[in-house]
Amino acid sequence: MNFHPTSPADQAHHAPADVFAAGLKLHHIANTAYPIGHTSTMRPYRVPNAQAQALGAAAWQGCDRLGLYVHIPFCEKRCGYCEYCVVDPATLERDEDLYFDLLVREFELYRQAVDTPAKTLVGFDIGGGTPTAAKTANLGRVVAAARRCFQLPEQVAISIETTPKIAALEPEKMRALYAMGIRRISMGVQTVSPRLLQSIGRTTGLLAHNQQAAENIRQAGFKRFNVDVMYGFAGQSLGSVEATIQHAIGLAPEYITLYRMRYKGTGLAAQAERVTLNEVLVQYERAAEILHAAGYQATPGKNTFSRLPSDPGTSHYLTQRVIHGTPYLGLGLGAQSLSEFTLAYNAGAADKRLEHYCRMVTAGRLPLQDLYHLSLPAAMGKMISVSFYFGEINLESFERKFGVPLVRAFSAEVDFLLNQGLVESTPTTLRLTKAGVRASNGVMALFYAAAVKAYLLEKASNHRNTDGVQKRATDDSAHSASLR
Ligand SMILES: C[S@@+](CC[C@H](N)C(=O)[O-])C[C@H]1O[C@@H](n2cnc3c(N)ncnc32)[C@H](O)[C@@H]1O
Ligand code: SF4
Repeated sequence: MNFHPTSPADQAHHAPADVFAAGLKLHHIANTAYPIGHTSTMRPYRVPNAQAQALGAAAWQGCDRLGLYVHIPFCEKRCGYCEYCVVDPATLERDEDLYFDLLVREFELYRQAVDTPAKTLVGFDIGGGTPTAAKTANLGRVVAAARRCFQLPEQVAISIETTPKIAALEPEKMRALYAMGIRRISMGVQTVSPRLLQSIGRTTGLLAHNQQAAENIRQAGFKRFNVDVMYGFAGQSLGSVEATIQHAIGLAPEYITLYRMRYKGTGLAAQAERVTLNEVLVQYERAAEILHAAGYQATPGKNTFSRLPSDPGTSHYLTQRVIHGTPYLGLGLGAQSLSEFTLAYNAGAADKRLEHYCRMVTAGRLPLQDLYHLSLPAAMGKMISVSFYFGEINLESFERKFGVPLVRAFSAEVDFLLNQGLVESTPTTLRLTKAGVRASNGVMALFYAAAVKAYLLEKASNHRNTDGVQKRATDDSAHSASLR
């Protein structure tokens, strides 16, 4: 299998200065969640349904090392700001066992279709949703299926997500997760402001849970503990961000990850225009300052801060994706998969309902809803967007993947960025400078495929002002959740 021929729209050239300005203007959508405008920019690469099964399997031939992501779309209650694929919480009790049956079946379908036992996992994340909302026995089935269907080396840390409430109230579940071999756990604290928690619709989180949760996680044996916090909410004060960061530090996790609120496709989408780029930059910079002072380090522009030297803090699954562009297989409702030549979304990504996924898996078919056969520029755009999660592009990984040096593939763009002092070269990376961090939405856009650049340019030209989003993006909101 090879890259799809490049579409005419992806052969166009757009002036770097214009694309940079458009990315900055549309900072709410020009981010690491790529591609943008699926239904238009990716249309030439969409594989007809009749061919999706064959191509969805062929995509993995020759791929011996990959990441695995398993999606659990259940939560106790849906938070108003959440962008992830979560089914109606009322269905949890009814659908949980069925869902895990289907997941195990999906593992087996891939085993048969692509000989997964010959493939080695370099990372394995169980995400959601809230995977720990599920029964321990069901989570155990997923881990067992991964061990049965893939090579899973001992040193690969399996990572899982939880809410504070579950970690606080179910210590025995924390212990069971550790006992089944899970070694990294990530907990969403989001914000400590009670009024903000209420207004963003996170009504399940009680602050009192956080400390107990951290204690239970430690007692279970976890030595890699991450806390997620969010910023960039409409009306959120700098003081609220500072208090949240201090609270997170007080929980003494190894890692703290900052999530800038992404509005696209969420229940809070209409509030996006109330948040300025300058506000979020100031919040990020202040958070980084407090974290650095407390011993948590990150390269400029990186979202995960770690207090362990030489440990980037992200899960092995995500680290491999960000640094090396390693392919990943996503299983479960709405999960995203990226092979060297294809990008795919499982059924449920758009409607967040189980029916279609259930029907396909039960019929013995890979539950692919949208499969794209990528061109070279589309694949490059995808890899580089994710690289910016660490604020830098690994030059060796890029050249190994695409057979061409980054500076040759993007000569005009790299020249522009170097001249503007937005990036700098190191022996192994091209990384954001401090000025580049402030303009990262514009910087990233320079590496998008030309069709995506054209989409941004068009959108920016009928944009109301320089610091907000006039229109809600609707065509691709279903695919928005960034790093899934
Ligand atoms: C799938 S959630 C997992 C954690 C768990 N369900 C919880 O909420 O505690 C992963 C993280 O994504 C972040 N997140 C959720 N919605 C987001 C959005 N709209 N924009 C940016 N980050 C978001 C939150 O920080 C959350 O902890
Ligand atoms: S933020 Fe976490 S708990 Fe809230 S709906 Fe999203 S996945 Fe569920």
